[in-house]
Amino acid sequence: TIPVLTIDGPSGAGKGTTARAVAARLGWNFLDSGAIYRALAVAAMDRRVSWEDEAALEALAESMDLVFEAGPAPRILLWNNDIGRRILTEECGNLASKMAAFPAVRRALLDKQRSFRRLPGLVADGRDMGTVVFPDAPYKIFLTASAEVRALRRYNQLKEKGIDVSLAHLTEEIEERDRRDRERQTAPLRAAEDAVVIDSSDLTVDEVIEACLSVVTS
Ligand code: CDP
Repeated sequence: TIPVLTIDGPSGAGKGTTARAVAARLGWNFLDSGAIYRALAVAAMDRRVSWEDEAALEALAESMDLVFEAGPAPRILLWNNDIGRRILTEECGNLASKMAAFPAVRRALLDKQRSFRRLPGLVADGRDMGTVVFPDAPYKIFLTASAEVRALRRYNQLKEKGIDVSLAHLTEEIEERDRRDRERQTAPLRAAEDAVVIDSSDLTVDEVIEACLSVVTS
């Protein structure tokens, strides 16, 4: 079977940066499952589907033509439009998080996520990679950090991309999103029983990457 390393955890724990780097180091494929939920939010905004309409969102999730182009300049194409920048906004993240609470939406996105499991291996970043999407993955990590550190990281990350937000506001939003992810009925955010827990609060990016790699290579 094709090996998978799952990296789950709350917003701003450093999963994106880490998972991407670990995938590059291993030469494995990479799944940013959050980007799929964010793409659904973009599709819903464009097609005027309400974030409260579970059935319509399920249909949208099933019909969505979403392509992740890998390579040196990766692109995310939704019906052939590059949405790489649009999915970065907090508005999009919040909408995605609300839509992600619907069981029918999560179910409709399962096949899409599992299709990323190709040779020589996959690093999958998300909330339920180790618990629901790839429960048989041989390597599982749960990456956390304190709420303060996570808000600050997200703040710096957005600033780097030229997106301006207030830290206080961001902290509130991150806490609200975490609460929703933890408390939802379907696939709530939690560490898989067989996951290695890594707290990145006091670690550098390189240290987190090494810690993740050692889960696969040891
Ligand atoms: O920006 P943030 O780290 O919060 O999230 P993301 O990874 O871009 O995903 C956006 C939202 O989709 C998250 O806040 C989650 O609510 C949801 N999500 C999920 O429910 N399951 C996943 N596997 C990935 C994301």
